[in-house]
Amino acid sequence: MSKEQGVLYGIGVGPGDPDLMTIKAVNTIKEVDVVFTAASTKNDFSLAVNIAEKFLSENSEVKTLYFPMTKDMDISDKAWQENTDEIAAELKKGKSAAFLTLGDPMTYSTFGYILKYMKRDYPENQVEIIPGITSYQAAAARTKTILVEGEESFLLTSGAFGGERIRGLKKIENVALLKAYKNVEDITLALEENNMLKKSFGISKCGREGEEIIDDVRELSKRDPDYWTLILAKQSNNGSL
Ligand SMILES: C[S@@+](CC[C@H](N)C(=O)[O-])C[C@H]1O[C@@H](n2cnc3c(N)ncnc32)[C@H](O)[C@@H]1O
Repeated sequence: MSKEQGVLYGIGVGPGDPDLMTIKAVNTIKEVDVVFTAASTKNDFSLAVNIAEKFLSENSEVKTLYFPMTKDMDISDKAWQENTDEIAAELKKGKSAAFLTLGDPMTYSTFGYILKYMKRDYPENQVEIIPGITSYQAAAARTKTILVEGEESFLLTSGAFGGERIRGLKKIENVALLKAYKNVEDITLALEENNMLKKSFGISKCGREGEEIIDDVRELSKRDPDYWTLILAKQSNNGSL
């Protein structure tokens, strides 16, 4: 797949089950020269690579890029910059590269930062995105929950700030909260205020080993937080399941 200047593919590997990867993702992963994946500086384990493992070619090199878990923007900026430079250096050699992300690369993903820096600093580089099935789509399928229908609306938001983003919602019948692993008590209160608590549930590690469906969201605040948790909720007077 080597060309004059390599292409970077941002690839979503889906929520966990390799069978949920797209054919395009699999075919591209098989062909690229270098496979990049993100790991936090605290552990060098990459779930995305594990999911795609059986499709990796013997000839492709796997490189882990470290992204610090910090709110210090100077440290983060430096890491994103260095990681983008590292990818660009491979493309410059004429190598094609894949950057693997869990779920979808355009949805709360580290790849988003790489894309921004790449566009800014290496606009000559060709980047292609291969979408993946997101965690909340997988959760909806797993639990047979309709995400949105008819003329309804659907809000996708982060739960990292608790219930803040869903307070006072009007005319939004359905919500998915990702990163619902801290401030869950506040999320619960906000769901109650919005008349959404009855038709809500949490799911941890959807489609992966250790998967757990938490029918009563209030239970979540009594447990140790699990980063891989999301909540789906809908208005209690909503007719759908
Ligand atoms: C940084 S976001 C990554 C989202 C991912 N790009 C996607 O498309 O779903 C991480 C959050 O996604 C959710 N998540 C990802 N995979 C999950 C899974 N298998 N089960 C439950 N939640 C998951 C959790 O809320 C987690 O805190």
